[in-house]
Amino acid sequence: MTTIETESRYRSGVESQRDVVIVRGQGARLWDDAGREYIDCVGGHGTANVGHCHPTVVEAIRRQAGTLIICPTVFGNDVRARLLERLVSLAPGNMGRAYLGNSGTEAVEAALKFARLSTGRPGIVAAKGSFHGRSMGALSATWEPKYRRPYEPLVPGFQHVAYNDLAAMDEAIGEDTAAVILEVVQGEGGVNIGDGDYLCAVQDLCRERGALLIVDEVQTGFGRTGRMFACEHHGLEPDLMPVAKSIAGGVPMGACLIGPRVENLQPGLHGTTFGGNPLACAAALATLDVLEAEDLPAEAERKGRWVIERLRAIDSRLIREVRGLGLMIGIDLRKRVTPYLKALADEGVMALPAGSTVLRLLPPLVISDEDLATVCDAVERVLTA
Ligand SMILES: Cc1ncc(COP(=O)(O)O)c(C=O)c1O
Repeated sequence: MTTIETESRYRSGVESQRDVVIVRGQGARLWDDAGREYIDCVGGHGTANVGHCHPTVVEAIRRQAGTLIICPTVFGNDVRARLLERLVSLAPGNMGRAYLGNSGTEAVEAALKFARLSTGRPGIVAAKGSFHGRSMGALSATWEPKYRRPYEPLVPGFQHVAYNDLAAMDEAIGEDTAAVILEVVQGEGGVNIGDGDYLCAVQDLCRERGALLIVDEVQTGFGRTGRMFACEHHGLEPDLMPVAKSIAGGVPMGACLIGPRVENLQPGLHGTTFGGNPLACAAALATLDVLEAEDLPAEAERKGRWVIERLRAIDSRLIREVRGLGLMIGIDLRKRVTPYLKALADEGVMALPAGSTVLRLLPPLVISDEDLATVCDAVERVLTA
């Protein structure tokens, strides 16, 4: 049996899979099992900001794997302590603590639970078009009906309002609202850019009414949008900030950063066995070193500006709009995106969808200018063919 046949026979079947077997990655390049090379604009769904197998991250993982892999939080650990201190030093505002988990979903789940703990209120307001993960709590905050419906009833107390609509948010935040959860740029929902005035006004409404603001930076964090965190574009100071994806260079990790207004976090109220394991913490420390040493948030801003301008110059009736912030870029098409992803792969470029019509590019931030030009040329050929 081929690799794809073996996977299709034995995997659960709940994930969709393309007919390509990837066996190696380096920087912004991937190789399949036939030795074919691709420029990677999937970026491990936005986890590969420092590039695949960055030597600094690989070396840190190697070293830590020979020292200590697992250490539950019931014990202290030197590497975990260093990472917590480092994360807090990078976070916007006065976020002084962090909870460590293993994925974006877990980071969101922690934020939702901490908001209820802190306020004693049940309500969560989320936005239409949002994606926050697929566990029962995170899924309750996610908008997409096709992900939600098969699992209903979901967690009570959640409602969704139109994104970038301040009047709708004003109406939704009440005395029973524990938190509002928003993305600065909606990723899975179609690369929808949050309006800065709207986001700041929502923060003010939360403060006025005793609700907490959760900004989900799982996809936007760690340089993706041209700042270390997308909150920095607008001076936002969230109370809870879930992060994950590229935090540890591709090793599974998530974290929920916690601001000073969050209360009542007592021992025993939440936890997970693998969260804060030294192997992932070492990978994360090395990833943060690379992000800073190579100034990757600034690189994302410079490269993203060039790519967006280049894509906007493509003359194609298929393109409705090109949107983006940093290297989080969406090309909204007038048709379903799937055949164009396949055509791009045939051109040697891997990209991903966002919703049903948006072609999304999430390349590693280390991608070269030359590779970006090749990607844009391929997109132009595919969308004007
Ligand atoms: C904004 C956002 N939040 C949460 C998640 C869930 O993260 P994970 O897939 O690591 O559980 C994602 C995943 O794409 C995301 O984009």
